[in-house]
Amino acid sequence: MNNVEYEVKYNEYKRAFNEYAENVFSEIKTPNNLADSMKYSLFVGGKRIRPVLLISSCENKGISSEKYLPYALAIECIHTYSLIHDDLPALDNDVLRRGNPTNHVKFDEATAILAGDALLNFAYEFLISNCQDENDVKAIKYVAESGGYRGMLSGQKSDKEKENAAIYTENDLSEIYRLKTGRLIACPLVVAELLSGNENIGETENFGFDLGRLFQFADDYKDVFSTSERLGKSVGKDEKENKLSAIKVYGVKETENIMKNLSEKLKNSAKSIDKSGFLECFIDSVVAL
Ligand code: IPE
Ligand code: IPE
Ligand code: MG
Ligand code: MG
Ligand code: MG
Repeated sequence: MNNVEYEVKYNEYKRAFNEYAENVFSEIKTPNNLADSMKYSLFVGGKRIRPVLLISSCENKGISSEKYLPYALAIECIHTYSLIHDDLPALDNDVLRRGNPTNHVKFDEATAILAGDALLNFAYEFLISNCQDENDVKAIKYVAESGGYRGMLSGQKSDKEKENAAIYTENDLSEIYRLKTGRLIACPLVVAELLSGNENIGETENFGFDLGRLFQFADDYKDVFSTSERLGKSVGKDEKENKLSAIKVYGVKETENIMKNLSEKLKNSAKSIDKSGFLECFIDSVVAL
């Protein structure tokens, strides 16, 4: 698959997801501006990489869109809520997200906290409403585990604890990456396995954690070398907040080496996972500045 074909495919998946999400959310109303605040962060932008990974994996396995789209939406809602809360003054204190003011800047802090909570609750309400069989029960449980105290939330907690840390190890960084980022990136890939009836998820999970690791290395790298126009979020934040980042632990050159080696390793595995070549192109796009 060449770059042009990849872009066409990516945009096709993204459009299908956005149309579905807009349709579902057109029914969501509240007697106050809570629904506006939820919809603001969900539709203000975003690359939709988790839905795209889910759709492409499910299509490869012949799973129907009726089956997989609720998961694409639920996972994106959970991811979006994690961003709203990540940007709050108590966490990373950011003012720009998806190219627009963060939720608490656009609305206010109370509304942002509640909109995040509402997106999280909606995700499970929606998955349970669409639950049809035993595979769904397993997949929903996996989503909850990925976003919860054994997953993303624990990563966010450790990320916060390691702010300003004078003592840290490479392993601390790896654990934070696996939890705060890896779990929600592995999630769509593993859900595709569970929906197809495969409970032997170890290999897919490890591939997903490595993909999440690459993604977070690139995120830390771009925080130093990209621009807020390109990323749609502030840059230079990790140094400002003295985060435990790849740059802090490894320096620039070693960070570049690790990303190069990890993306080679991932692309090799991707060849056998996805014969279409989409996943390999996706891996290249993660590290592109
Ligand atoms: C940002 O995720 C948070 C990280 C895990 C680094 P994305 O880079 O996927 O953000 P959006 O969804 O495109 O805004
Ligand atoms: C956030 O990591 C990961 C989440 C679980 C939201 P970062 O704090 O580095 O993400 P950005 O750079 O703000 O998008
Ligand atoms: Mg953060
Ligand atoms: Mg942040
Ligand atoms: Mg970051």
